[in-house]
Formats: sequence, structure tokens, C-alpha cells
Amino acid sequence: MIVITGDKKNELDKETFRNICGKYEKVILDLGTGDGRFVFKNALKNKSTLYIGLDPAEKQIQIYSKKSNRRRLKNALYVIGSLENLPDELYSTVDKIFINLPWGTLLEKIVKSNETYTNELFKILKKNGEIEIIFGYVPELEPSETERLDLPVIENESDVLKAFSTFKKIFEVIEMKRLLKDELEKIETTWAKKLKFGKDRFIYKIVLRKIAV
Ligand SMILES: C[S@@+](CC[C@H](N)C(=O)[O-])C[C@H]1O[C@@H](n2cnc3c(N)ncnc32)[C@H](O)[C@@H]1O
Repeated sequence: MIVITGDKKNELDKETFRNICGKYEKVILDLGTGDGRFVFKNALKNKSTLYIGLDPAEKQIQIYSKKSNRRRLKNALYVIGSLENLPDELYSTVDKIFINLPWGTLLEKIVKSNETYTNELFKILKKNGEIEIIFGYVPELEPSETERLDLPVIENESDVLKAFSTFKKIFEVIEMKRLLKDELEKIETTWAKKLKFGKDRFIYKIVLRKIAV
């Protein structure tokens, strides 16, 4: 897979990646990491966990990859990829996937609960692995995106569960709640910070655990 270190791109082969994973108690993937702030902040706090930030936007992930490089953070990796193009090196390596404030095709594939991508997420997780998704959109505030992606209306918890119906075939819901604006601060991502100062909106957190099949 292609790893970004500062402004350099390198290939990381499967064996080397597995060796790196073996040095840590846990492996966390931040899918759609954006500028990678979540990876940087958490990697600083939890040195026994490997944090991997994955995003298709190379220039974006360079931002916190550069900061990680300066701090010589060994437990932060920044990878180029997308939900549609998950590096297969990741298969069966990840304890928990975070998807924080997805947008574009990532949001579309998650809330329209597509079986192909639900299976891909299942495959990269270890046994009993979890996914935590924090998401929200408001047709009145984002009319063009809601219409372009033909997103379902999500206004309450039963809409959330309906949107995640495909997930529920191979994951169990272990937590679901509406987040208040002030709670966004704890997420430690750039978009969470932006939304905290924006208009009120529905933001939901849903945590799913892989079912043994
Ligand atoms: C609103 S930003 C949130 C970024 C970050 N998680 C945060 O909270 O600051 C959405 C991110 O999803 C990424 N994205 C869009 N489509 C994607 C896809 N199909 N797979 C992975 N990431 C995607 C975008 O490049 C962007 O960085």
C-alpha cells in the first residue's frame, strides 16, 4: 500500500506492514481521515496503539503526516486509499475502524448501506472488531449534496437503524446516540471543530461489532 510520510510517497509491503502491526497492542483505522488530525492526536496519547489514517486526498493527509514526522511518531501511518479501494494489506489487521464525519462517496456508501462495502469493512477487521461512525447531514443545510447523492432522510434513531440495515446482517449495534454539539469537541478532528461552531444539526454516533460468522 502507498504510505505518505511528510510529502513523500512510499510503498509498504504486506510483510513489513504485518511486522509493524505486531509491535502494537491495537491497530486503529481512521477511514476518511482528511488532514489526519485524529491520527496525530490519538497517536501522541496512546503509544501502544498503531493509528492508520486513510484518505484519497493526498494533499490533505500530508498536513498531519508532516506534523507526525516532525514529532517522530512511529505509531502513526498515513495511507492513500478509499472505501472503494481499501489496500488488501489491511485485511484482518484492524481492531477498530473510526469513520468521523464522512462526506462524498464515503457518506453515500455508509448511509445507503451497500453490501459490497459492508463486507469490505468486515474483512479488514479482526475477530470482534468494531466500527464507530459519527455522521450527520441536514438537507436544508446541504441541499445539493443530499440531492446529488440521493441520501435518505435521517431525523431520528429509527432512521439511523434503517440506514444501517445491511450492516446489521454481519454486525451488531452496540451503541447508538445523538451527539450534542459540545460533544463534537472530544472527537479531535478538524471537521468536528468546524461543525462545533456551525449551525445546530443532527449528528449521530453508532458503534457496531463484528458478528462471528
Ligand atoms: C468531511 S471530511 C472529514 C475528514 C475527517 N474525518 C474529519 O473529521 O476532519 C470527509 C473526508 O472523507 C474523504 N472521503 C470522501 N470519499 C471517500 C471515500 N470513498 N473513501 C474514503 N474517504 C473518502 C474525503 O477526502 C474527506 O477527507
